Amino acid sequence: MSMIAELNMTDTENMNAIPSFDDDGAHVIVFGNEKGGSGKSTSAMHAAIALLRLGYKVSSIDLDARQGTFTRYLKNRWDNVIRNHTETPSPLHMAIERSQLETVEGQKKEERDFLMMALDELRPCCDFVVIDTPGTDSYLSRLAHSCADTLVTPLNDSFIDLDLLAHIDPVTHEIIKPSIYSHMVKEQQKIKQSGSNGITTNWIVMRNRLSHIDAKNREMVGQCLETLSEELGFTLVTGFGERVIFKELFLQGLTLLDLKENREKPLTLSEISARQEVRHLINAISPETIKGYIKPPKNNSGASVQKSND
Ligand SMILES: Nc1ncnc2c1ncn2[C@@H]1O[C@H](COP(=O)(O)OP(=O)(O)O)[C@@H](O)[C@H]1O
Ligand SMILES: [Mg+2]
Repeated sequence: MSMIAELNMTDTENMNAIPSFDDDGAHVIVFGNEKGGSGKSTSAMHAAIALLRLGYKVSSIDLDARQGTFTRYLKNRWDNVIRNHTETPSPLHMAIERSQLETVEGQKKEERDFLMMALDELRPCCDFVVIDTPGTDSYLSRLAHSCADTLVTPLNDSFIDLDLLAHIDPVTHEIIKPSIYSHMVKEQQKIKQSGSNGITTNWIVMRNRLSHIDAKNREMVGQCLETLSEELGFTLVTGFGERVIFKELFLQGLTLLDLKENREKPLTLSEISARQEVRHLINAISPETIKGYIKPPKNNSGASVQKSND
């Protein structure tokens, strides 16, 4: 069976869960990859803040509430605002926990109801909803994928992580067959398509933690990803480099796009390059094509500053 034919098999069981939305609500951007540690929460946070700073109204949902990285990142941001009296824009945020009900059917219904309630609440009042998902296969994660107008899959620059998209021949580096996550994305794309007048998810794969020294691995992974992007129909973005700054900013709840207002010393060259990398991701999402160009407010604080409830 060819790669595309294999991917066109439909997960009929999941068809019951087709979410359908009206066209003029927020554009839903899901950060997903069944592998933990690939950079979903880091890139979701950076994308949400970058969109806010472009003047869009942004809200966010954490579906990985057990680990809660996205929610903790925002909590650190709110604490930082209170500590330093800064006007740092933040998205309107919700976190959805996995259901604790006893039956699988009950769990699915409750999780579906919560996600749909959150989207019903957030979509009418903003331009973009950014959703972070757990690094495991779960009903909630699959459901989020089927709601995605844009899916961003961050991928560490390694064959171990690539294995989640496709199995690669160890000698020739040819693609043998798509892997489990690609199957899942294609299934959810079909579900999305049938609920949204034939429009399906725009899938972006973003390389993350690109090494500045391991040029050979970088080139080999890059070549495989180029081929895969044609076979699987995703847009490939050269994402973030391996940079300590992405780790350091978490505790202050800041992103690279907040540094100018939050630090007295000038940006380093590495920080300027990292900001460019974030912009490349935003260019690939292309918010101005989706929602039109919005001129940022003068003080760059277009969104309300949210206060955590916990
Ligand atoms: N570009 C990067 N450079 C350096 N560290 C990174 C980068 N992207 C993510 N990280 C680090 O990798 C770890 C996993 O990132 P995270 O965003 O939590 O991944 P996920 O949400 O997919 O589990 C974190 O320690 C994070 O700080
Ligand atoms: Mg995470």
